[in-house]
Parts: sequence; structure tokens; C-alpha cells
Amino acid sequence: MSSTVLVGTQWGDEGKGKICDLIARDFDCVVRYQGGNNAGHTIVVGDRKYGLHQVPSGIMYPECISVIGNGCVVNPKVLLEEIDMFEADGISTANLKVSGNAHVIMPYHMDLDGAFEELLGSHNIGTTKRGIGPCYQDKMARIGLRMQDLLDDGVFRDKLSRALDRVNPQLEKIFGLPMYTVDQICDEYLPMAERLRPYICESSRLLNDLIEQGKSILFEGAQATLLDIDHGTYPYVTSSSCTAGGAVTGSGVGLGNIDRVLGIMKAYITRVGSGPMPTELAYETDEGRTLTEEGYEYGVTTGRRRRCGWFDGVIANYAARVNGLTHIALTKLDVLSAFDTVKVCVAYECDGERYTTVPEHEAAFANAVPVYEELPGWKCDITGCRSFDELPQEARDYVARIEELAHAEVAFVSVGPDREQTINRSWK
Ligand code: GDP
Ligand code: IMO
Ligand code: MG
Repeated sequence: MSSTVLVGTQWGDEGKGKICDLIARDFDCVVRYQGGNNAGHTIVVGDRKYGLHQVPSGIMYPECISVIGNGCVVNPKVLLEEIDMFEADGISTANLKVSGNAHVIMPYHMDLDGAFEELLGSHNIGTTKRGIGPCYQDKMARIGLRMQDLLDDGVFRDKLSRALDRVNPQLEKIFGLPMYTVDQICDEYLPMAERLRPYICESSRLLNDLIEQGKSILFEGAQATLLDIDHGTYPYVTSSSCTAGGAVTGSGVGLGNIDRVLGIMKAYITRVGSGPMPTELAYETDEGRTLTEEGYEYGVTTGRRRRCGWFDGVIANYAARVNGLTHIALTKLDVLSAFDTVKVCVAYECDGERYTTVPEHEAAFANAVPVYEELPGWKCDITGCRSFDELPQEARDYVARIEELAHAEVAFVSVGPDREQTINRSWK
């Protein structure tokens, strides 16, 4: 199997966990390259369901090496809880590795995340409040603590003390929040460090050694294209490089080692948090049917109701371009079975101009009015279909229209949450 980047193409929650788990069996290693426990990736195998935040979705295969790359941020408590959950369920974490260069989410990052959001008031981003933005901010400000710092008490104390010199005045003077002492944080973090020690490694070297041995790597993205710090709907984005390019900087592997880019695309659109979303539908019932309820669109991490809308072909095309998609996995097609007709946005109109690609200026995107095509629905249960030919003609036409708009091949069609509920058209 050639090395592949798996990337979200919309605003997250496209079903990355499901597809990553499905294809991971054909890879020697899965590496998460950005994000932290803001992610919530669901894996369903038979009657078991896991919501993963930190651990890569390759963990279900004991022989597969799962790596949390240097581009990630790690909440040690959440990571240990996930490790314990898997071990208790008989799933080995012996092959889990964490980059020593991944940054550590500290308690004050979570405090600051909440405080910044409050300060923004009605302009807030709607973050997951997991401390992600402030942790990446410290990384860029060069006062962050890394997983390798946890391995030496003296180093950890020293670096923490310097970080607190900058963080404490901010907490107290700007937000009126309690300050932290070095001892207080060390008491909580150093015992966790002991448990994490066996997992921490030099992951770039590990990955490059695997490549040299001819092994294949699956790079697992979290969040998604439109939440990318550079290519997303700034400022309503997350603080990392979610697009395919992030896979190389977030793992320490050379560009030339990546052969394919698989974009995960939901058959409609969802978004959690604030920011523009051209095809958003009001949360209202259409004969009792809504995308929210049909797709059970509630967040894995925060439980928030996701905003829902019809498929946006302009975004699909944009995602194909900025990620260089070679293949698409189209997920949740079964959810659309409930509707008489299904709409696809093929362009935007804004101030009398028509756009078939995402407008560069954020104001134009915020005011974009979708231009829809309405396609006939199929109105039957497709969750049992296992080949493309078994799908009703209307569903196949819908997939074909998405391929035209995105200019990329739909290799997988997903028709239910379980691993087995997948049609593989062309992925080898
Ligand atoms: P991720 O963050 O991209 O991994 O996606 P999430 O796990 O946050 O959200 C996707 C949700 O859709 C999860 O509850 C999955 O179990 C579910 N899911 C994935 N693929 C399908 C599908 O094809 N059909 C249905 N009905 N559910 C799916
Ligand atoms: P997965 O990997 C959907 C959103 C938040 C908010 C913005 C910034 O499961 O697809 P942050 O806490 O990252 O600073 O929040 O990004 N967000 C997600 N939305 N799925 C996710 O992850 C998300 N991770 C962050 O809702 O709008
Ligand atoms: Mg999710």
C-alpha cells in the first residue's frame, strides 16, 4: 500500500475515524499530524463504539504502529484515559508512540481558551475549550513545554517556571483568574509523565526508518480543510495546519514519500462553532426530517448540535485543490435516503457576482448565497448495499455529480457507521 494522507475536506466530523479505521489494516503505521483532543473520531466495530480524541485511529490493529506526531498537542490526562480505556477493552497500546516534540496542553491553556472566548463575546470562535489555541500560541511564542520535557523533572520545572512568568500575569491581571505555581502543576503532571515515558520517542526518525524498510504510512488528519489556520475560514478556524501539507511538517517525513491524498467528504455539510457556512439550513423540520436528526449530528467532543446544510460543491472543489486530492471517501450517503429531493450547491452569488470557487475575501464568503441544483432522492434504505451497482440510480447520479464538482474520484461510498457498511469502488 502506498503512503497516504487522509484529510477532512469540510469543517470536520466527516467520518475520518471510520475511514481511517477501515483502511488502516493495510498500513504498517498510522500517524496523527496535527490537532489535539479537540478532535473526536468515532470508530464502530460491530457493537463496540469508540470516540477517540488523542490516539490515532489505527489503534484497533495491534500490529500497526500508531504515532502521535510532532505537529500535535497532547493533553496527558486525556491520553492516559484513552490508553486505559483500550487496555481495559483488551486492545493493546504497546505499539503507540508519542513524539517528544509534540507540545503539552497545560491547565492554563484551558483557562485561557475559555477566557479568550469570553472576551470575544458575540464574536467568539466557539472553540472546544480544550486549550488548543493557547497551546499552539505558546509553541509559536517559543515558551511551550514538549513531551520530551516531561522526561526530566529538572528541565520540566525550569521551563515551566519561565512559562509561568509570562502566563501568570496574563491570568491574573487581564482575566482575574487564579495563578499557578510550579509545584501545583508538577504534582499533577510529573506522575503522569512516569506513565507516559515508555510511549515517548523520536517519531520523525521512527517514521523515516519505517519508510526506509519499505513500510507504508497513513497520515491521519484531524479537524479539516476549512478549519485550517491558513486555508480555512479564518478567524473561525483551529490553530493548526489540517490540510494535507501539514502531514509533512507535523510528522517529519519528506514530501516525496506521499503518494495519495484521500479526502473525507460528507454527503452534506456540518459545522460546529461559529463562522460562515453558505449552505446552512435553519434547524427546522421538513415533514419531521432534518439532517441533524437523520445524521445524528451531535459533537463527539463537546456534545454540541452540529449546524447542517446541503452539500457544497464549491467547497469540495476548493478542498480538492488545496489538498491535491487524488481520491474521495464520500460518507453518510445513507442519511440522505430520508429526503424526497437532495440539493447540491454548485456556485455562490454575492453582490451580483457568481463564484464557482471559494471567494478570496472573507466578506464575500460570509455573504455568499448558494446556487442549488435539486436532484431526485432515492427514498430507500441503502445501508445494506456493498457494491456501487446495488445503489439506486438516483444515488449513483448524486455521487457522479459530486465527482464532477470536486474533480476527483470517489473511491469509497460509506452507507453506515460500521466498518462493513462501506462500498469500495476503486481503492487498492
Ligand atoms: P470524524 O471526526 O471525521 O472522525 O467524524 P465523527 O466521528 O466526529 O463524526 C462522524 C459520525 O458519523 C460518527 O458518529 C460516525 O460513527 C458516523 N458515520 C461515519 N460514517 C457514516 C456513514 O456512512 N453513515 C452514517 N449513518 N454514519 C456514519
Ligand atoms: P474532528 O477531528 C469539528 C472547531 C471548533 C471551533 C474551531 C476552533 O473531530 O473533525 P479549537 O478548540 O480547535 O480551537 O476550536 O474548530 N473544531 C472542530 N469541529 N470537528 C473537530 O474535530 C473540531 N476540532 C475543532 O468547534 O469552531
Ligand atoms: Mg469528529
